[in-house]
Amino acid sequence: MKVLIVFSHPSKNSYTYQILTQLKSALDKAQICYELSDLYSMGFQTDMSEAEYEREGFAKTEISISDDVQAEHRKIENADCIIFLYPVWWSDCPAKLKGWFDRVYSVGYAYGYDKSDHSINKMKQVPYGFVICTAGHPNDFLDEIGIAESMRNVMIDDRLGQRFKHKEMHILGGTLEKEKVRPVHYQKIMHIVKTIEDSSNQYD
Ligand SMILES: Cc1cc2nc3c(=O)[nH]c(=O)nc-3n(C[C@H](O)[C@H](O)[C@H](O)COP(=O)(O)O)c2cc1C
Repeated sequence: MKVLIVFSHPSKNSYTYQILTQLKSALDKAQICYELSDLYSMGFQTDMSEAEYEREGFAKTEISISDDVQAEHRKIENADCIIFLYPVWWSDCPAKLKGWFDRVYSVGYAYGYDKSDHSINKMKQVPYGFVICTAGHPNDFLDEIGIAESMRNVMIDDRLGQRFKHKEMHILGGTLEKEKVRPVHYQKIMHIVKTIEDSSNQYD
């Protein structure tokens, strides 16, 4: 089982970075190999260029895909499981990760397939997709105001969509009271890694 972690937080002093550290150490312990796309550290470009817009907006698949996007495509093709880890900012992922979807989900690759065009590889269906986001509000409150559901709809139903087979979303809420929620969040991370470990034999 090969895991790709797509991590989006600018600070190594953040709670979300601590979650990343826990996740990596649990994967190491389970001897599951992973690759990391740390979008801020990589300086991943998230604004679409005009040429990229032309390509996406008008399905001009003859326009070449830039090297940094192709590198992400290779990581996706190499992965059996992708984990998206980020903080909730204004009820969604940070713009950095949104821009990753804007650019990496290129036409002909992640959507808008042209069966006659064999020059572009179609994105494979990734067996496992996990969305893990930290949130300041407690989970109960995010459920009550409908934001948890809308985040699930956007991330799980739309962005992961049919491109992933088994999909899970985990909101690690209540980070305004970190000491209260830390043990619960730790258990969730352990549970996610156990799920990955239990299914890893099929992919070795
Ligand atoms: C710009 C910004 C917007 C935020 N928006 C929300 C929000 O809409 N809902 C929420 O529950 N928490 C929100 N938060 C709180 C973060 O989700 C929380 O700080 C984060 O999950 C955990 O802290 P970390 O930044 O130390 O990793 C926001 C924080 C920032 C900085």
